[in-house]
Amino acid sequence: MNLNQQFDLVRQSPTVSLSDRINALKAGGRSLVGLQVGDPDFNTHPSIIDAALRAMQGGLTHYGPAIGTKELRQAIAAKLQRDEGVTYDPASEIMVTHGGIHAYYLAMQSILNPGDDVLIPDPSWATHENMTTMLRGNAIRVPAPAEAGFIPQFDSWLKALTPQTKAIVLNYPSNPTGAYPTREYLGRLQDFAKEYNLWVVSDEVYGSLYYGKRPACAAAFEGAKERTLLINSLSKSYAMTGWRVGFLAAPARVIANALKAGQNSITCVAPFIQKAAAFALADPEIQQVTADMRLAYARRRDLVLRLAHELECEKVLVTPPHGAFYFFLDFRPLKMTSAEVCERLLEEAGVALVPGSAFGEYGEGFVRMTIAASDEEVEAGFRKIVAWAEKH
Ligand SMILES: Cc1ncc(COP(=O)(O)O)c(C=O)c1O
Repeated sequence: MNLNQQFDLVRQSPTVSLSDRINALKAGGRSLVGLQVGDPDFNTHPSIIDAALRAMQGGLTHYGPAIGTKELRQAIAAKLQRDEGVTYDPASEIMVTHGGIHAYYLAMQSILNPGDDVLIPDPSWATHENMTTMLRGNAIRVPAPAEAGFIPQFDSWLKALTPQTKAIVLNYPSNPTGAYPTREYLGRLQDFAKEYNLWVVSDEVYGSLYYGKRPACAAAFEGAKERTLLINSLSKSYAMTGWRVGFLAAPARVIANALKAGQNSITCVAPFIQKAAAFALADPEIQQVTADMRLAYARRRDLVLRLAHELECEKVLVTPPHGAFYFFLDFRPLKMTSAEVCERLLEEAGVALVPGSAFGEYGEGFVRMTIAASDEEVEAGFRKIVAWAEKH
């Protein structure tokens, strides 16, 4: 019997399958420094956990509205107003989702027809391309090479454009590079999208993790809201990856489609989780906790930069990330594939990392290292990486 052949074109999530392998190695007794995951090492704040427990004890254990509870949609609208200066109607323009990945799925499912072309920068998180393929769209990768600061140049967007292009997918700050463009660039990109009648799907799950000027929200430009689909979640910013809660903010007709897709796939996000998420987004003390996490990532970022300077390694080149919690280390001087570098670092130095090729052709030669790990692990892991590279 035949299967859905579309899946022959979809790769397994390289980061998730790698994590499974590392966990198996650890379970077998190997001592490893795991710098491969995109999961904060911080635990969810206890008061968020209390909010969920109280909600469960109070009876929020039944189905809830498929679009999300009114309380959480209002908290999301208030957050978007407070942090990004954009106004969304919680009744019709916001849907609660099962994390950012589900928001991305709903966004793409709501707008794509089979055969539509989607422009996706390269490198980029593998799901951006995989989801497009799963939904029978064509992912067209737009070069975002290191030399351009991992941001596509405008002639690259233009060159990639086809008559079938339906959408562009953005993810700033970027996984894996931490890059994000200026406000002016994003404004110009919105003009480009308007000119060619494209949707802008903007994955902003790392939006609150930045080390310089706050990244602009893709919807925060004159007229941009009408064509922008915002993806966000509480996973990275509130250390709530396992809770699976996020949101899609988009024009009402997109949300109407997303609602049908949600109703017919997951029914709803657990109401007690939504209660805790609403508390997390609104509580002033929790906003301070997220700001403190950002400071911790900034401290680790500085730690790696200091070590790189001290160790003067010429085999692995380090550029400071501007956002998110990853370094995209440049191993090109070693002239090995990034898969080989990662395999050997795992076997010979006991450090787990993700090959840049997992993110696209323009990630080849680079390796992603997370700083969402303790200062000690980051330092030990980075020292091992440099010592290994020096020997090759
Ligand atoms: C760029 C990007 N978008 C979305 C997600 C999904 O996050 P979640 O579904 O936990 O919100 C991730 C997770 O690693 C990511 O890196």
